[in-house]
Amino acid sequence: MWAWASRFALFGVTATWLCCLSTEAVYADAAGVTLKLPGLGALRGSLNTSAWTSRAIYQFQGIPFAKPPVGHLRFKPPEPADPWNGTLDATKFGKKCPALTRSNQEQEFKEWTSLLTPENTEDCLTLNVYTPKLFSNASLALPVMVYIHGGSFRLGSAQEYWPNYLLEKDVVLVVPQYRLGPLGFLSLQTEDVPGNMGLMDQALALRWVRNYISFFGGDPDRVTIFGQSAGGAAVTLMQLSPLVDENLFAKVIAQSGSALATWVIDRNPVRSGLAIARLANCNQTKMADLTACLREIPVKDLLLAHSKFLVADIAAGGRGTGGNHPVIQTAGNQRFLVEPPLKSIQEGRFKHVPLLGGVTRHEGSFILGNIYDNILQEYNLLHNEDYLRHNLTRTTLRFSGIEDTTGMISDLLNEKYFQSGELGNFTAMTPGLIDICGVALLKAATFRFLLENSRQQRSFLYSFNYFGEHTKFGYGVPVDYPFPGVILPLQMASHFGLQCLQRQGHT
Ligand SMILES: *[C@@H]1O[C@H](CO)[C@@H](O)[C@H](O)[C@H]1NC(C)=O
Ligand SMILES: *[C@@H]1O[C@H](CO)[C@@H](O)[C@H](O)[C@H]1NC(C)=O
Ligand SMILES: *[C@@H]1O[C@H](CO)[C@@H](O)[C@H](O)[C@H]1NC(C)=O
Ligand SMILES: *[C@@H]1O[C@H](CO)[C@@H](O)[C@H](O)[C@H]1NC(C)=O
Ligand SMILES: *[C@@H]1O[C@H](CO)[C@@H](O)[C@H](O)[C@H]1NC(C)=O
Ligand SMILES: *[C@@H]1O[C@H](CO)[C@@H](O)[C@H](O)[C@H]1NC(C)=O
Repeated sequence: MWAWASRFALFGVTATWLCCLSTEAVYADAAGVTLKLPGLGALRGSLNTSAWTSRAIYQFQGIPFAKPPVGHLRFKPPEPADPWNGTLDATKFGKKCPALTRSNQEQEFKEWTSLLTPENTEDCLTLNVYTPKLFSNASLALPVMVYIHGGSFRLGSAQEYWPNYLLEKDVVLVVPQYRLGPLGFLSLQTEDVPGNMGLMDQALALRWVRNYISFFGGDPDRVTIFGQSAGGAAVTLMQLSPLVDENLFAKVIAQSGSALATWVIDRNPVRSGLAIARLANCNQTKMADLTACLREIPVKDLLLAHSKFLVADIAAGGRGTGGNHPVIQTAGNQRFLVEPPLKSIQEGRFKHVPLLGGVTRHEGSFILGNIYDNILQEYNLLHNEDYLRHNLTRTTLRFSGIEDTTGMISDLLNEKYFQSGELGNFTAMTPGLIDICGVALLKAATFRFLLENSRQQRSFLYSFNYFGEHTKFGYGVPVDYPFPGVILPLQMASHFGLQCLQRQGHT
């Protein structure tokens, strides 16, 4: 039996043998397993089983990897967590990062705040580690997968992603949380509110993985980062960021998201930031005073101001991405992104690594749903043949962030995506519209990123086409559209929140 004592201290063992192989041994008492991370502290984890073959999974949840980003650390780049005394209870998830998701936000906030005290609501920078082989010897260390969840950079949490299917295979899974919405992405392009904090949180989580994953049986030299939607954009942004060391990951899987997608970067962060500040009643004229105000207001007020901003922005024809998206930083002593992704890519300034990118067949159904609700139904255009024939493709492009001022792109798309006789008939147009939306929103950007990466590294593209019962079309909201949606089952949150925000704006 391998002497694990050199790397693990196991204690509190009233000891059941859960498994006992020649090279590994796992002790656990009824309450779980305990291990010690040198320089940090002891952790008590729990046990679960995989979905199909019921193999053991050791889970350590809610491990802090950063200091709580509260008080003077709000809006600041994250700092590594302090060590703790005693044994940390890692049998429960950490608290979710604050986010408003429902249309009745005041009500939601009441429910939410009743569960949390005002002091700890922002204290959410934790990660979960799941491993099938806790006590494996270094030469048998397993590949590691770090999952960055999606949700428009303002929704979602690590709690939504369990290991039970993935850990049928020999991998260690890590799911970090990161600051969301304005807490993670507000930018005034100043030292105090630089922007990209949520991405820096992810990068710090990767450094934690580098330092500690071997104690969970993982190989720090074989880390794959993967993510979906905003998470897919985030993992490819890691390839571009000068802040992220090359040794923090070896491979990337970008699912339905890429740094090049039109919705990734907030191009007017200061304008958005100041508008959000005003809505939060932080309208001091001196930047230092305004910043102090933003740092001191309750989380609730900040989130409600952001929400009001997004709803108003969308109502005014904006895309609703201000205050909660990555920015090209022009200030801050740590700068996650310093130039537009396309420029880094064109000029080869990014970490080329083996890359798997993927899309789903009906990627575009999501955005078509928005158009259906907010334009076609709202303005009674569903049977307006002239509108469908002459305007709809352009509207569709605009929803995907592409302004087709001359109409040339729409004409080309109409020719390519519709058969003769289809234009003007919504039912007949839907397959083509779904494709146009999907290409404009995601597929082209994913393909382009892969293409550039493939000049130096192996790059693969998949399309997930199975239309099954677990599709997340609607993202938990029942949908009744006259068109289908294949959306990755993994995902819980929306691409960039347009759907629920627009519902709020119109109901
Ligand atoms: C680790 O496993 C390898 C391969 O099974 C073995 O050769 C080696 O002796 C083991 N190392 C320790 C420290 O047990
Ligand atoms: C085990 O995993 C399932 C999710 O697949 C979860 O519902 C359950 O609560 C987990 N059990 C423990 C003890 O964490
Ligand atoms: C841990 O214990 C030491 C010694 O008692 C004490 O100095 C330190 O402040 C404690 N740290 C924490 C985080 O409680
Ligand atoms: C900000 O402006 C609003 C409306 O103009 C005003 O009601 C509010 O008192 C101002 N707040 C501060 C802190 O100046
Ligand atoms: C359709 O496009 C035309 C020409 O651009 C414009 O004048 C018209 O208002 C649009 N129709 C609708 C219903 O938006
Ligand atoms: C519209 O297209 C659908 C599907 O192709 C077809 O069944 C329907 O008859 C068409 N409607 C009209 C008015 O042509």
